[in-house]
Amino acid sequence: MFLWGTATAAYQIEGAVKEDGRGASIWDTFAHEPGRTRDGHTGDVACDHYHRWREDVELMSGLGVNAYRFSISWPRVRPEGDGPVNAKGLDFYERLVDGLLERGIRPAPTLFHWDLPQALQDRGGWMNRDISEIFAEYAATVAERLADRIPLWITLNEPFVHMAYGHALGVHAPGQALLTGALPVAHHQLLAHGLATRALRAAGARQVAITNNCTPVWPASEREADLKAADAYDILHNRLFNDPVLLGRYPDLSAYTTGLDAVRDGDLDIIATPLDALGVNYYNPTRIAAPVDDALPFSDAGVTGHPTTAFGWPVVPDGLRELLTGLKARYGAALPPVLITENGCSTEDTLDDGDRVAFLEGHIAAMRRAMAEGVDVRGYFVWSLLDNFEWAEGYHQRFGLVRVDFETRSRTPRASYRWLRDFLRAEKRAQ
Ligand code: NOJ
Repeated sequence: MFLWGTATAAYQIEGAVKEDGRGASIWDTFAHEPGRTRDGHTGDVACDHYHRWREDVELMSGLGVNAYRFSISWPRVRPEGDGPVNAKGLDFYERLVDGLLERGIRPAPTLFHWDLPQALQDRGGWMNRDISEIFAEYAATVAERLADRIPLWITLNEPFVHMAYGHALGVHAPGQALLTGALPVAHHQLLAHGLATRALRAAGARQVAITNNCTPVWPASEREADLKAADAYDILHNRLFNDPVLLGRYPDLSAYTTGLDAVRDGDLDIIATPLDALGVNYYNPTRIAAPVDDALPFSDAGVTGHPTTAFGWPVVPDGLRELLTGLKARYGAALPPVLITENGCSTEDTLDDGDRVAFLEGHIAAMRRAMAEGVDVRGYFVWSLLDNFEWAEGYHQRFGLVRVDFETRSRTPRASYRWLRDFLRAEKRAQ
């Protein structure tokens, strides 16, 4: 059965950051530091989903989705990262999972969507190899409670973005600006993914995937320097995370480092533990030119000539087809079934979000063209069910099928919600 769903993440929607024994995460710390997020917004209350989750499950039920991708907050389950288990944290996710199943919605939890326990950051965070093992222990804790009811697990969300924004550029938590010095963060996350995949299966998990953020990379011109830069960018953004998982080896990283010292014998076998699906988040293509300074071996030339979202991101639906057929061409038989674990756009603060309808329609059509070209896609999740805390942008970017009033936390479905509901009804009839 094709999975049609919506996606969210814990820190972006839950709030209740101090309730029921939840520990602090790096996003709690970061968002409270002056100047880190737009207007100083934090996830302290967010959509108050921790208290309003029943209403959110009803909204999904009314929408007619058969799957929901959410994330589990590591510091809610193990407040210190590797210390005692907080039963109340697991209770919350158990209530949510059971509530979803009662409505015929398949729960697809992500175990790490960037909210590392602060206590682990204090021990070096993802620069410290020990965190990989600790992540696998936490994954096992969750699976021991929930594996009997979860059809699909996702280990990590967008390890590229967590490395690049959080550790190379410093615009996300934990706010480190290490540039290429952040590469161990890629390896330790990937190792964590492999170890967790094994731990999840040992605890009875049925299907396991990873979610990578992928982008088609367009060279700014046919000039040699631009082609070289585009290749270097493709390596960093796409292949650094897909190759080890699917092929068991790292791409050529010589544009960035003389050697990834963090890699030890046996790591790549663990990282390449077979998966049931590859989760792909797609938002837009990237256009890359030759570097402008010595900091990085490329520069962002910007995609022009396409409409843009409220965020300013180019809207290129066919980029999704290009991306999917590109994955198939590169990985061939090594590519497991693909799930589009996120796709969506921010719009102005309106209920009449025709732009979002056009965006979704265009991207679903592009996904179907890729399927017609032979890519095995098994699911599509809209980012997002609700307007939510868009990281450094705070509440300024609205990605929801459902509008959230951040004064009252009341929810109002937008035109796109009704469009998707009707689309899903028609899909069901056509089956
Ligand atoms: C990807 C991330 O996984 C999600 O947290 C974020 O809100 C969306 N992209 C939109 O930027």
